[in-house]
Amino acid sequence: MIEPTGRRAVTRTRALAVTSGKGGVGKSTVAVNLAAALVARGERVVLLDADLSLANLDVLLELTPGMNLQDVLEGRCGLHDAVRHGPAGLRVVPATQGNPRMSALSEREHAGLIQAFSDLGPELDWLVIDTAAGMTPSTLQFCAAAQDVLIVVCDEPASLADACAMVRVLKDTGRRSRFRVLVNMVAAGEDPRLTFQRLVDLTDAIAEVSLEYAGSVPYDRTVATAAREGQPAVVAHPDAPVATAVTKLARDTGRWPLSFTASGQSEFFWENKIHNEVMERRART
Ligand SMILES: Nc1ncnc2c1ncn2[C@@H]1O[C@H](COP(=O)(O)OP(=O)(O)OP(=O)(O)O)[C@@H](O)[C@H]1O
Ligand SMILES: [Mg+2]
Repeated sequence: MIEPTGRRAVTRTRALAVTSGKGGVGKSTVAVNLAAALVARGERVVLLDADLSLANLDVLLELTPGMNLQDVLEGRCGLHDAVRHGPAGLRVVPATQGNPRMSALSEREHAGLIQAFSDLGPELDWLVIDTAAGMTPSTLQFCAAAQDVLIVVCDEPASLADACAMVRVLKDTGRRSRFRVLVNMVAAGEDPRLTFQRLVDLTDAIAEVSLEYAGSVPYDRTVATAAREGQPAVVAHPDAPVATAVTKLARDTGRWPLSFTASGQSEFFWENKIHNEVMERRART
């Protein structure tokens, strides 16, 4: 459904979880740059730091101190108050640095947090979620609650094996069966589709999962330079290879069909789902 202005209708708000099995493969880099590239395309975006106890987006983006997710959970402020303004119109909800309690939220606290984002729904096209690595209950819950999951891998056996393990757990626990895969840190001369194919082969034994190739990002030293500058590379170095690749990814998201989770668990913007289902039923009759 398109509004007269051409902007997406509020019912299309999507949550995209950027995740991985192994740590350090580039989730935060991809999440920050993808969020910034979507903003540059005129999309309304909030980036959520879902690495709840080891937050680092505030460092990566040099955010000024303020409220964070822990303040929201402990009732000191509402979610709107925790939204910070980062570079180039990027809005960010930061987590807490060094608080282990935050990574051990109860399922109920988690569901409450996910539900709280519904307030932002009408103002958003995308919620980009930068998760913690691996199979923590929190990361699994964020992945289950998002409409899209983007698994970041690089061409290393451990990255692929851990990504496969992540797919297996999310599938076996009934949380989801459809994943998009981004190959990061691609070296010159390396074919990222072969890396993707290796992951497909590894996950072959898991029944009824679907992996879709979302694209690739080259190894680019600009990523480190931009991190030192506290800016997304797509903003500070728009001509760098990493920026070109993530800008393409942002463009491609426009072609991703909307796939709702069927987990029956708490879900970001679930009101949209109900609304969309009603609209679809009306359109059919
Ligand atoms: N495409 C790239 N080219 C060059 N360096 C990269 C690229 N992507 C990520 N890096 C570097 O790899 C390191 C890990 O990146 P990042 O912090 O984004 O990973 P992560 O998956 O979020 O890690 P964690 O699991 O600790 O949250 C950083 O030093 C970052 O600068
Ligand atoms: Mg990270």
